[in-house]
Amino acid sequence: MLALRLYRQAKKLARLATKTRADTPREVQLEVTNRCNLDCDMCPRLILLKVPEVDMSWETFTQVLDRLDSPESITLTGWGEPLMHPRIFDFVAEIHRRFPSCDVSFTTNAHFFTEAFIEKILAARVSRVNVSLEELPWSDAEATTPPPSDFRTGNPMKGHENYVARDGHPTPRKVVDRLRRFLDRVNAERAAGRDFPEVRMQVVLFPEGTEIMLRLVDFAAEAGFHAVNLVRLDVRGRPDLRRPSWEDERRMIALARERAESLGVPLGSVNDHGALLKLASHSDRFCVRLDNFIYVDVSGNVAPCCLLRGHRVGNLVEQPLREIWHGERMKRFYGPGVHPACVGCDAFLNCYAEPAPLERRALPIASVSHG
Ligand SMILES: C[S@@+](CC[C@H](N)C(=O)[O-])C[C@H]1O[C@@H](n2cnc3c(N)ncnc32)[C@H](O)[C@@H]1O
Ligand code: SF4
Repeated sequence: MLALRLYRQAKKLARLATKTRADTPREVQLEVTNRCNLDCDMCPRLILLKVPEVDMSWETFTQVLDRLDSPESITLTGWGEPLMHPRIFDFVAEIHRRFPSCDVSFTTNAHFFTEAFIEKILAARVSRVNVSLEELPWSDAEATTPPPSDFRTGNPMKGHENYVARDGHPTPRKVVDRLRRFLDRVNAERAAGRDFPEVRMQVVLFPEGTEIMLRLVDFAAEAGFHAVNLVRLDVRGRPDLRRPSWEDERRMIALARERAESLGVPLGSVNDHGALLKLASHSDRFCVRLDNFIYVDVSGNVAPCCLLRGHRVGNLVEQPLREIWHGERMKRFYGPGVHPACVGCDAFLNCYAEPAPLERRALPIASVSHG
């Protein structure tokens, strides 16, 4: 499996370096549901994206799978909580049945990690589980002190378990306990040499969030997460949201790295794809997302990126994959020039994680081949 991943990574590097696209996209994100048990303040799902709160049907799912071409990875996550889908584990099993070498993963708020769900997740043999976490409940010692009247500014741990988190996902103590049990199970199985999922903590960065972020890194090490991934807050279309300045965020990332290194937990940032991929992407002239990726919504509509859900370039229930991938609407996202919908997006730019700020380069992308 490791050899296969390295081979896929090498192919991606070669594609980016030579400014070519995959013949057909092999990294697929499936919006299995847009229903959610939470309503996080930061989440654009209902306010901005106005997603339909429905599940992908089995019929749509199988029709979409029929049209995929040897996918390398399938992420079962849309703008909702994937574990709310009543057939999520049937979906995973069907992907394994059809595409045995395909990595399957999902991102979750972990609120449903009961014993029964934990066993189902482990039995499903997914490659990776990303757990979104931005707050921790107070420790017992801290909880003996009543929360300050204005806990939003006074409490560095932010949401008390009876309150809604100011930033990010509200995470009651019960969920933290379930997470610990999940990680204990996963790590016991891994220690016994069984192939159990990598579990990553995914943290969105907020202003004045350094203390909680460091606390989360400590928790990741103590509870046995395998990696931490830091994510920029996306504020496009949400003037009510505030993100840290570039300088503050780089400082936060540096502090988090230092802490994670001292604890032996790998820590990455969505904006840091490593030196090779950065070089291959011509230092951000080329988005690392577009060469091999599609986002498929609950109805089979295809978009070039999860952040461009409304930019429909085709529908996999109605059209073959090649027709969509090589269609004019999709190719336009690959140049020449930056697509108007991508202007101002810094979600995956390497320069963001660099020590000195660089401006987004809206340079034309020349001589792109679509082979
Ligand atoms: C939309 S959620 C869906 C999966 C699941 N419900 C969860 O929260 O993990 C996928 C990821 O998007 C992130 N997210 C939500 N709103 C965001 C925003 N405004 N900027 C950046 N990431 C955001 C969440 O933190 C989560 O890691
Ligand atoms: S971030 Fe995830 S848990 Fe929060 S509302 Fe959005 S989809 Fe639901």
